Amino acid sequence: MKVGIIGAGAMGSGIAEVAATAGNEVLLYDSYIAARDRFDKGLDKNLSRLVEKEKITKEKAAEIKKNIHFVSHMDGFKDCELVIEAVVEDIEIKRSIFDQVESIVGENCILASNTSSLSITAIAGTCVKPERFIGIHFFNPATLMPLVEIIPGVATDKKILDDSKKIIDSWGKVTVIAKDTPGFIVNRIARPFYGEAIRIYEEGFADFATIDWAMKTYGGFKMGPFELMDFIGNDINYTVTETVYKEFWNDPKYKPSFTQKRMVEAKRLGRKSGRGYYDYAEGAVIPEPNKDEELGKNIFWRVLVMLINEAAEALYLNIASREDIDNAMTKGVNYPKGLLKWADEMGIPYCLETMDRLYNEYHEDRYRASVQLRKMVRDGKNFY
Ligand SMILES: NC(=O)c1ccc[n+]([C@@H]2O[C@H](COP(=O)([O-])OP(=O)(O)OC[C@H]3O[C@@H](n4cnc5c(N)ncnc54)[C@H](O)[C@@H]3O)[C@@H](O)[C@H]2O)c1
Repeated sequence: MKVGIIGAGAMGSGIAEVAATAGNEVLLYDSYIAARDRFDKGLDKNLSRLVEKEKITKEKAAEIKKNIHFVSHMDGFKDCELVIEAVVEDIEIKRSIFDQVESIVGENCILASNTSSLSITAIAGTCVKPERFIGIHFFNPATLMPLVEIIPGVATDKKILDDSKKIIDSWGKVTVIAKDTPGFIVNRIARPFYGEAIRIYEEGFADFATIDWAMKTYGGFKMGPFELMDFIGNDINYTVTETVYKEFWNDPKYKPSFTQKRMVEAKRLGRKSGRGYYDYAEGAVIPEPNKDEELGKNIFWRVLVMLINEAAEALYLNIASREDIDNAMTKGVNYPKGLLKWADEMGIPYCLETMDRLYNEYHEDRYRASVQLRKMVRDGKNFY
């Protein structure tokens, strides 16, 4: 099929490569003149690496390249069956793009946004045919991360949802369906991984290195929260937290931290700026964690139970199915286990007791247990 992609930045470029690898003809458009050169260089580099590693043949690399056409105007989208937008996170810009796209494409073309934090219903709100509009949310880097969240808006047709899911499944991705609520699945449920870790640091229980060590050692996470925030970029991670918090009408569960805000203000953005929670300069001293077993386990349990509570709440509010919630966290952010499966293993009564203990200690709404956990304990149920 013919796929139009708007925005050839980090995400649009990756999505174009994924679509072209699956054999689609891709038309890629970006308003920034130098984007084409940047894209070509990036694609060549990616494809040569894949050939070198023998993941694809030279012929396949040539075919992928041939499948992508950079276009200088969106008029080229006329025969596209699907158009995915991946430009800056600005609702007015996105709406004006779809206003143009709708006047170009045919009746049956699916229109999709890759937005991380805007409401799909809100972007579709100014479309002539909001019923063909949907969220198709890839993760960074789109070529490597298997997960794609599919988000129907209030007006989206069931057929558009089914067709979009089928298309993205056929591109070799793992799709999950999410309700159009802030952060969808992953960016909502993952908040405590960062927020609770920072809170533990702010309270003086442990330093960054110890918290990271605890989450990796006792939880099997590939990266600790501070390493991950430095990897993502503190500016990006902070903005997601702030957006989710505001969009949930300042629910204290998602409250951003001064620690991370100050990091952003100090331009300690993480790896990309050479310094974040850690110093990435050559020869910088790597801080040693305090490998106290009891401390480590307490840190891990507190963060994990907060994550489980968030996953349980998402299930309770029908944000996604049990399987999709677990798949989203393992395939979208590499968690070692699905959170609901993990909850069963930890024991639902233990999770509830931990939440209630935190709530009794702090008397903060941030620590309120999900009613899902309470009901399950009352009924003696597990998630699976
Ligand atoms: N970066 C991530 O980790 C990530 C992950 C998932 C989703 N997203 C979402 O994907 C979208 C794009 O993010 P990104 O990180 O690729 O951004 P980016 O800044 O890397 O790329 C955006 C591109 O859009 C182009 N652009 C801006 N306005 C345009 C217009 N009017 N017409 C055509 N092109 C235009 C820019 O020139 C740029 O090349 C955002 O909505 C973001 O929320 C980002």
